[in-house]
Amino acid sequence: MTLVGPGGIGKTRLAVAAARQIAVEDGALLVDLAEIGSPGDVPRAVAGTLGIKEGAGRTLTASIVTALRTRRALLVLDNCEHVVDGAAALAQAVAEGCPGAQVLATSREGLGLGHGHERLVPVPPLDPAGAGADLFSERAAVVAPTFDPRANRPTVEQICRRLDGVPLAIELAAAWTASLTPAELLDRLDDQLRLLVGGRRTAAARHRTLRATIAWSYDLLSPSEQVLLQRLSVLAGPFDRAAAEAVAGAAAGQGTPHRSAAAAVDTGDVLHALVQRSMVVAEAGRFGQRFRLLETMRQFAAERLAPTGDSGLVAGRHARWCIDRVTELHRLLTGPAEVEGVARLDELWPQPPGRPRRGRHHRGPPPHARAGPSRRRRGRLPEPERDRRLGRAPARHHPAGGPRAGRLRAGLGGATVQAQPRPPRPTSGSSTGTANQTTRWSGTPGPR
Ligand SMILES: Nc1ncnc2c1ncn2[C@@H]1O[C@H](COP(=O)(O)OP(=O)(O)O)[C@@H](O)[C@H]1O
Ligand SMILES: [Mg+2]
Repeated sequence: MTLVGPGGIGKTRLAVAAARQIAVEDGALLVDLAEIGSPGDVPRAVAGTLGIKEGAGRTLTASIVTALRTRRALLVLDNCEHVVDGAAALAQAVAEGCPGAQVLATSREGLGLGHGHERLVPVPPLDPAGAGADLFSERAAVVAPTFDPRANRPTVEQICRRLDGVPLAIELAAAWTASLTPAELLDRLDDQLRLLVGGRRTAAARHRTLRATIAWSYDLLSPSEQVLLQRLSVLAGPFDRAAAEAVAGAAAGQGTPHRSAAAAVDTGDVLHALVQRSMVVAEAGRFGQRFRLLETMRQFAAERLAPTGDSGLVAGRHARWCIDRVTELHRLLTGPAEVEGVARLDELWPQPPGRPRRGRHHRGPPPHARAGPSRRRRGRLPEPERDRRLGRAPARHHPAGGPRAGRLRAGLGGATVQAQPRPPRPTSGSSTGTANQTTRWSGTPGPR
């Protein structure tokens, strides 16, 4: 099944909610494909999450099929749109070779599987007079404690109608209730959207609505908030405050925000403001607060970074930060704090620099036409490969409940897959320990 719809409509949230509710014997597994760069990396990302190693004489896809052949599992492939061909090939192989397994994909468009293997389910917008208005009021109450949901209901419903019921757009608008009354919000949104969005209520129109709402919200940010948001776009996965400070260039004594490349941005309050504006998502991490840009937002921010001429500089800061982190991790991994080092490595992994940006100015050919080899390989690598890259001997296998076996971070929404030990099944293939464990949903889909 593929959940389709424009960015911000709620595909990921729905997929996560569905995966947590559906009872599948062998559990559900989420692979966030936003973190990989090319269609050819899809099997690697899935295998990495399943804990499957590349075996001699067989493809990774064949190993995945072997591992899932006798399982009743749900594989959630989130954010397939930029690697449609790779996701489709893998889903097709699983559909044909694994009778008990199911794939739930999210994508802006269908994957185009053959032989009737795909069911497209468009994700509908929220009802402006129902769930949409409820969402707005809930968010508005957070930023403006005096907000009166009853008195404002008619205006709020109009706002949600204006925003085509797109949840992310509703969240972005509601975040401004602290400084604008609902009537003022409606007025300003009306001006912005009338110009940018046509009258038809199609998925494409909803996408334009969201883009226009993001642009509207972005234009209301202070210059330093805009600069920080642009720079955060180089961080592909969840990040911590130190990473934000590194890409912002927030060195001590350089607190004055500017639009120029040389100037640093003071991240503390500015990051907080971006969270308040719903431009950045905050979630609890194992080692403290973590942050994340929804993919639509990240792409928008990357587009705004490009014309500033700061892209190279920010990418350089990101690269230096990654090198520093890896050096520090190496120290942890080779010392008594190895367990912590492994867990921190897992948090760092989606971050290798050099990932081609997918903003409008950088997009090149459309996603389905993009060939793999031209795009740098990245994503979750099998652990031995991570070990090789860190220049260390392959790590000992941690027992179930240890940091590796116990917790496979699986991307968006802070949703994680908790690996639980189960009696080993006689399976052939090249899977490692984690593949022989039940995986089930745990945690919550983010702070929202
Ligand atoms: N039904 C819903 N109710 C409340 N909030 C929602 C709902 N659907 C989506 N959202 C929120 O809207 C934002 C965008 O949703 P997301 O699932 O990331 O969209 P997509 O994956 O389609 O880009 C998220 O912050 C999400 O929590
Ligand atoms: Mg999504």
